[in-house]
Amino acid sequence: MPTKNKKSLKHMNQDMVLNHSNNLSIQEIIQNSISRRRFLQMGIVTTTATLTSNFLSSKTIDTINSSDRPKALGFESIQPSSQDNVRVPKGYTAKVLYSWGDPVGIHDKSPQFKLNAANSAREQALQAGMHHDGMDYFSLPMHTQSNSNALLAINHEYCDNGLLFPDGDNNWSLNKVRKAQQALGVSIIEIRKNSQQQWEVVRPSQYARRITAQTPMSATGPAAGHRLMQTKQDKSGRILLGTMQNCSNGKTPWGTYLTCEENWSDMFTNKTGKLTELEKRYGIKQREQFYRWSEVDPRFETSNEPNEPHRFGWVVEIDPYNPNSTPKKHTSLGRIKHECATVDIGNNNKVVVYTGDDEKFEYIYKFISKHSYQPQDRAANLKLLEEGVLYVAKFNEDNTGKWIPLVFGQYPLTPDNGFKDQAEVLIKTRLAADKVGATKMDRPEWIAIDPKIKGSVYCTLTNNSSRGENGKAGVDAANPRKNNIFGHIIHWQEDKNNPESLSFTWDIFAMGGLLNSSNLNWTTDIKSVSFGSPDGLKFDHRGVMWIQTDVSTTTLNTGPYEGLGNNQMFAVVPGSKEFKRFLTGPCGCEITGITFSPDNKAMFVNIQHPGEAGGVSDPKTPRAVSSWPDAQITGRPRSSTIVITKNDGGVIGS
Ligand code: FEO
Ligand code: CA
Ligand code: CA
Ligand code: CA
Repeated sequence: MPTKNKKSLKHMNQDMVLNHSNNLSIQEIIQNSISRRRFLQMGIVTTTATLTSNFLSSKTIDTINSSDRPKALGFESIQPSSQDNVRVPKGYTAKVLYSWGDPVGIHDKSPQFKLNAANSAREQALQAGMHHDGMDYFSLPMHTQSNSNALLAINHEYCDNGLLFPDGDNNWSLNKVRKAQQALGVSIIEIRKNSQQQWEVVRPSQYARRITAQTPMSATGPAAGHRLMQTKQDKSGRILLGTMQNCSNGKTPWGTYLTCEENWSDMFTNKTGKLTELEKRYGIKQREQFYRWSEVDPRFETSNEPNEPHRFGWVVEIDPYNPNSTPKKHTSLGRIKHECATVDIGNNNKVVVYTGDDEKFEYIYKFISKHSYQPQDRAANLKLLEEGVLYVAKFNEDNTGKWIPLVFGQYPLTPDNGFKDQAEVLIKTRLAADKVGATKMDRPEWIAIDPKIKGSVYCTLTNNSSRGENGKAGVDAANPRKNNIFGHIIHWQEDKNNPESLSFTWDIFAMGGLLNSSNLNWTTDIKSVSFGSPDGLKFDHRGVMWIQTDVSTTTLNTGPYEGLGNNQMFAVVPGSKEFKRFLTGPCGCEITGITFSPDNKAMFVNIQHPGEAGGVSDPKTPRAVSSWPDAQITGRPRSSTIVITKNDGGVIGS
């Protein structure tokens, strides 16, 4: 079976433009490669001929005002790599901890992975899912800072039918779809350091759990029970079946895991071709050839279940410490293609959650809870994400910005404009954000909060090759490059250093691109490395920023990306312009998902989709691109969580 399409599975929709709203503030003004304002920020009023290597530097916000942040990184930056392995700097060791198909440890008869992928759906439900993404570390016992025993919650974003089944998607059946549904969702595993000081998965563990596209969940917030949430199977509109396409994540201070439903629309079809406005805005299509769920599972065919798509696209809260808890879909946080849900506590103890919508020209959002966080009352905190206000970001040309509320009844979110109540505002979040004039961004991915400066927030904007195309939004100050193939990282400082503020100032932290490029549009402002398509983003507990790349598999090492090798991970001390390359991944993978033990001596990273060539893999040659991590002749590449430690037992990055 040939590969069906030379696009990366995950980027099918993200490479489409679904936002055709006309809410641009300055598109008429500027259609250059880089905005005029950006040149002025840089002090450059000239042509590309006189550009210097620091032409993009434009810091407007001081990020070095923290005395206890490390001044420098202690490791030697490694070279790019096209090798089929994980490479880390001298003095570090990376080990595979938990791969697709490994037993979760729910009981001691957990099924082992079969190298030829012959495990059944029932077995898959007791094994690691595919395509590991966001992840977080929860010390055991709860309320401790244990560095030797913990739970890891790990997202399994999507699946590749060519690897998931011995014969790929031949002889397609409901049974095969059931296995695929069990391969998505979340793993909760217990890990510990053994007597040799090596991290291992604890099996069995009372906490071990798989949450899949078949796990019942409850809905909270204004859309729970709404008529647009009701289906034939669930007339209450409150008992939702499963989570899927779980991309990045968040962690709350009360010890719960937030998993984000990103490319859920890929699973649905409307075979009539009569797509509604809402279906079009969220990317549902008439036909779908990669996952093929709707062919045999009518839940995913919208002419049969028009409201089923409304039950996906949410942030889901999971209590990893309670294996019997029901996951909650919090509708107050909006229905988009959530990349992540990054949590902070404001100066009045309100909970603030930042989340990006990863598609070309989509928006950045922030939720502020109604009630306050109470450190001593976990039961009350478990309800905090049920009530609050969702805002969407507008980045002004003058480096200020504001958070615009998405509240029913406040013009223009009124019945005249298609919103009958707050539930509709949330179910149609994208349409609501279009109406209020939010800023169209270059594919918001992860959002990270600087632990050393209150209200200092960063977001990776991975790339947007359609910026400035005919009929599409042009450049603006926050998205200053036409055909932005290398992406950038934006930064904002909430006013009064308060995450609850509704205004902020912003600047661009880093532009992706090449060192020494003669092409202005391909040039980075980083001093030390070429990089592009930033995606995963997280601070460690010391205030060092870690950046992971997701260059799509069909772009890796080709065209402008030639010489950059496989996907990789960098570290930087904010305030400096010096990235160091810390890790390079195997062939065809993405690096995503990152978390640390509290002492920063163990770093957990996910290697997603090693071996992906673009489209569905050919089951006859599963190892065509990568054999990582097993290197078995009868095997296939497997997404995996790895653990990285320093050989001298020290702090990562020191
Ligand atoms: Fe799942 Fe936008 O990455
Ligand atoms: Ca991502
Ligand atoms: Ca990505
Ligand atoms: Ca990818």
